[in-house]
Amino acid sequence: MADSAAIGIFDSGIGGLSVARAVRELLPDEQLIYVADSGHAPYGEKTDEYIYQRMQAITQHLVACGVKAIVVACNTATTAAIKELRAQYSLPIIGVEPGVKPAVLGSKTGVVGVLATPRTLLTPAFAHLAERYAGQAKIILQPCPHLVPMIERLELDCAALRKRVTGYIQPLLAQGADTLVLGCTHYNFIADVIADVAGPAVSIVRTETAVAKQLQQRLAQAQLLNSGAKIGADRFYTSGDAGLFNQQLLRLWPAVATALPL
Ligand code: DGL
Repeated sequence: MADSAAIGIFDSGIGGLSVARAVRELLPDEQLIYVADSGHAPYGEKTDEYIYQRMQAITQHLVACGVKAIVVACNTATTAAIKELRAQYSLPIIGVEPGVKPAVLGSKTGVVGVLATPRTLLTPAFAHLAERYAGQAKIILQPCPHLVPMIERLELDCAALRKRVTGYIQPLLAQGADTLVLGCTHYNFIADVIADVAGPAVSIVRTETAVAKQLQQRLAQAQLLNSGAKIGADRFYTSGDAGLFNQQLLRLWPAVATALPL
């Protein structure tokens, strides 16, 4: 595998663009190929079997594009089936899980809220993660089913969004939570709204920078960091509406980008 090959990154939609942005900043010489599986979103309401099928289809596409590593930029997909995906493919596959550990370690009140999709919070992989830290803090799970569709529609700061966010986090704050984990990559795009509604005493835990660093480490270990100049332009595929994806890219991606059909 040539170190000049691209890195594949995918999500059910635009949430993973927040991870791709962190990768773009940390590894400016790498070419990225992003897949937004918007035609099959939200994953948060699908079964693990369905999500795994989509992960396989997207991985096959990325492998056919010649990528050297894959980032599953979705907590729901990672907790649903990253183990199975890793068992099937030999290239490095990096996932993203809710940042329960840093939240528990940083909490002063010992009460932590985890915001995520309903599916993520129901998976055995997440239960296992939460169990590991349950002795050190009270971990309150808050499924947020309405947020992903709003974020996909680019409703990133409106009264309706603030109302939803308030409804989800008020009960956590009332129980003493001083730390909120953003356990869905989509929520990174509304982190400011969540922080604003929660108030200055509450810390927000995000994971995209840690994921980018982990990717950098894995590539370095495998001697796959691009040693030359960046060769190809980044590419952005969608299984959904290309017109909408172009609007989303215009708003959320820091460079000119055009949607390609998956
Ligand atoms: N962005 C995905 C995550 O991190 C979830 C979005 C969805 O429900 O499709 O969990």
